[in-house]
Amino acid sequence: MRPFLYISTFLAAACGAQASGGHTQPPIRNIFTFPKNTFIENIAVRANSNLVITSLSVPTLFSINPTLPNATAPVIYTFPNATGISGIAEITPDLFALVTGVWDLANTRAILGSLAIWTIDFTTTKPPNSAPKVKFITTVPNSTVLNGIAAHPSNPRLLLAADSALGAVWRVDLATGAHDVAFSSPLLAPTSEGHLGINGLKAAGEHVYFTNSAQGLLGRVKIDREGGPKGEVEVLAKAAEAGADVVYDDFALDFSFSKRGKDPKGVWIASHPSYAVRVALAGAGAGGQWVVNDTGKLLNPTSAALGRGSGRQERTLYVTNGGEFVGADLVNEGVVAVDLGQ
Ligand SMILES: *[C@@H]1O[C@H](CO)[C@@H](O)[C@H](O)[C@H]1NC(C)=O
Ligand SMILES: *[C@@H]1O[C@H](CO)[C@@H](O)[C@H](O)[C@H]1NC(C)=O
Ligand SMILES: *[C@@H]1O[C@H](CO)[C@@H](O)[C@H](O)[C@H]1NC(C)=O
Ligand SMILES: *[C@@H]1O[C@H](CO)[C@@H](O)[C@H](O)[C@H]1NC(C)=O
Repeated sequence: MRPFLYISTFLAAACGAQASGGHTQPPIRNIFTFPKNTFIENIAVRANSNLVITSLSVPTLFSINPTLPNATAPVIYTFPNATGISGIAEITPDLFALVTGVWDLANTRAILGSLAIWTIDFTTTKPPNSAPKVKFITTVPNSTVLNGIAAHPSNPRLLLAADSALGAVWRVDLATGAHDVAFSSPLLAPTSEGHLGINGLKAAGEHVYFTNSAQGLLGRVKIDREGGPKGEVEVLAKAAEAGADVVYDDFALDFSFSKRGKDPKGVWIASHPSYAVRVALAGAGAGGQWVVNDTGKLLNPTSAALGRGSGRQERTLYVTNGGEFVGADLVNEGVVAVDLGQ
């Protein structure tokens, strides 16, 4: 999620060396462009390769089959009492949770009381057209912005949700709807210049990983079975070291063919204004950042996910583009594929 009125002084940190580490720029293909003023916010990928896409400006979940030559974006479901959807995450195989709200887009906040958690279950859907099962879980009336969300890595009853305003992670019991703040930290908080603190949230192994857009950092913290912190928040990378104008948004964990759910080998961070940044977390190059920079195809990237369902898909990074303003209209928002090769 990004502020609609992007201010370039958001992160005026000094520029470190661009750490592209001798990588060449990978090819990027357009997958689907949405109609204008459909701000594309987040992405999850089903085991069958289909992308599941959220928009902050319509309360509709879209499906895209990225393996088709001319992909379309059929509607999966339109949620009531909401103007848009923020985070989405797979909880158990083919069952996803997501956040709806009535959004004030200029302020990237939701109307207090409007944020709601739902699940959508594809496990019972049979081709060609049977609908997934949608279930309302709870509202989260004390939050003004739930952004990235993640299933607890070992306790799938618990959903974790990043609150970009409070600088906190909420936990939601998906069975009962009970919820409270699991933890907060100054490293999750927004700043006076940037009002989105913690933004993306993913969990694997014993950790939750997060980006903080305002503070320009990727971090992680070990959590216990109830989602509480078990130790200090660690800073893993800084946006300013990828480039002076790089603003981290949401991200994908990269297991690089190792088992999903174990510790990731790296992360791919969708970054404004024109970047996808891979931070290596393991091996000799750990901490290094590979900056993919494409001002024509990466247009205020909001989130990223690696494909699933085949070796080729697993080497394809799907990046959602928030789009760019032409006059008062937001255009060219959609999904692109970065072909990572072998
Ligand atoms: C995809 O779209 C292009 C341009 O509209 C068209 O020429 C082509 O035939 C389409 N391909 C398929 C497989 O539908
Ligand atoms: C939507 O809001 C209306 C009015 O507040 C309420 O009666 C209804 O139950 C809500 N629907 C859902 C699915 O939350
Ligand atoms: C919501 O805020 C109120 C007032 O601060 C507090 O009493 C209540 O416990 C909070 N609820 C949750 C779920 O955090
Ligand atoms: C990304 O590319 C643009 C356009 O060529 C350039 O202005 C910008 O400096 C590049 N960013 C980095 C971090 O190299």
